[in-house]
Amino acid sequence: MERTPVRQALTDLAAGSEITVGGWVRTVRTSKGGFSFITLNDGSCLASLQIVADEKLPNYGSQIVSLTAGASLLVRGKLVESPAKGQRVELHATEVAVLGAADAASYPIQPKHHTYEFLRTVAHLRARTNTFGAVARLRSALSGAIHEFFQSRGFLYIHTPIITASDCEGAGQLFRVTSLDAANPPRTPDGRVDFDQDFFARTTYLTVSGQLEAETYACALGKVYTFGPTFRAENSNTPRHLAEFWMVEPEMAFCDLDGDAALAEEFLKHLVTIALTRCRQELEFFNEQVEDSVIAALEGVAGGQFARITYTEAVQRLEKSGRHWTFPIPWGADIQTEHERYLTEELFGRPVILTDYPASIKPFYMRLNDDGRTAAAMDVLVPRIGEIIGGSQREERLEVLAERMTSAGMKLDDYRWYLDLRRYGTVPHAGFGLGLERMLQFVTGLANIRDVIPYPRTPRSAEF
Ligand code: 4AD
Ligand code: MG
Repeated sequence: MERTPVRQALTDLAAGSEITVGGWVRTVRTSKGGFSFITLNDGSCLASLQIVADEKLPNYGSQIVSLTAGASLLVRGKLVESPAKGQRVELHATEVAVLGAADAASYPIQPKHHTYEFLRTVAHLRARTNTFGAVARLRSALSGAIHEFFQSRGFLYIHTPIITASDCEGAGQLFRVTSLDAANPPRTPDGRVDFDQDFFARTTYLTVSGQLEAETYACALGKVYTFGPTFRAENSNTPRHLAEFWMVEPEMAFCDLDGDAALAEEFLKHLVTIALTRCRQELEFFNEQVEDSVIAALEGVAGGQFARITYTEAVQRLEKSGRHWTFPIPWGADIQTEHERYLTEELFGRPVILTDYPASIKPFYMRLNDDGRTAAAMDVLVPRIGEIIGGSQREERLEVLAERMTSAGMKLDDYRWYLDLRRYGTVPHAGFGLGLERMLQFVTGLANIRDVIPYPRTPRSAEF
């Protein structure tokens, strides 16, 4: 079925064009003069197209006058300059095919305000609202921009595995992958579940990060990135955590922490610029309806320089702030969202790259600094969100890495392949991970991460 996107009809086509559009009814108003005004949305843009249907249409009385929100239509007609405010053209219908009616009593998306909480219960239909349509278009545009950014800089796109035997972040937040019968698993003589008899003849998990595998390709091909779903059985019900989220992870050989931070800044600026230029209408909508600082914040990021500060300096500034912190922050404690937000929103008023965290609170793979107690780590913090990127220079020295892994309780044998990179032609290398959903929260102003992914997976919730 050949059809013209509403976006094109509204912005590009001249009055007089004969077109066919397809979409879903938002509102219908029938006037006494023998006309129905239907607003039709097809998801190609925020705006709907006004359809004017005349009583002379053969199915006017039998179908058109009783149309309600949610019905699907294919409409043929002629674009006419519109007398109504706020739209250049409207479509005068010569044929209105009702493909699917929608029962008005039960259709959940009515033309009125719905709460985000309610819309999460109808996630299969919420893409038909302005907000979720706009989120979907932004999500797609940013995904494309991620590939553009890396492809144009000579990075190779690597597909790292979803099923893995390693715990990259060493945090134990893993979902197990098994085909054993949960009710009656095979057991070893000492009574434990015998994973030798499992599908892969070992314990396996959903990946928490593609980094370790990306490192192996960076240490052969130079510059790579992986972009895919990652999984964390993190039992934290916060507006910033998902159990399934999308992460983009570049990894570069012959690169140190400075080069890594520079790339992260350039990358965020690129994404923000793409959002501002290609999704202007969506951003104006979010700025008006959701968070009135969104556009100013994005313009600040695109044009300004990020602040840079070490963990040790940050702790001093946090102590000196005179604030009462819910989580006290003596040297060595992990930085919490409240601290991150203070640094980026109040102290600097722009994105902050926080570096050189205590090694003891960071994963095994981060390179130990010469002071012996900090690691070449970096987090990028942005206003409203806090951490949006986490990364580091990697430990490329075999002995230092082996020592750190052993003291973290890891079995070196399980990571033989990872250690091989340090045995054969080791090289300084670095990378980072950006959570796509955190980025979308930053760009849209939406407070809850459940509203920037089509089907959020969180503790006790995996419907749809
Ligand atoms: O800081 P994280 O845990 O770093 C890594 O996974 C590294 N392996 C990345 C690397 O160096 N290649 O996660 C990176 C980013 C965070 O800054 C955040 O944006 C996002 O991933 N993230 C989450 N987003 C949503 N829900 C969660 N549970 C998240 N955990 C991390
Ligand atoms: Mg992190």
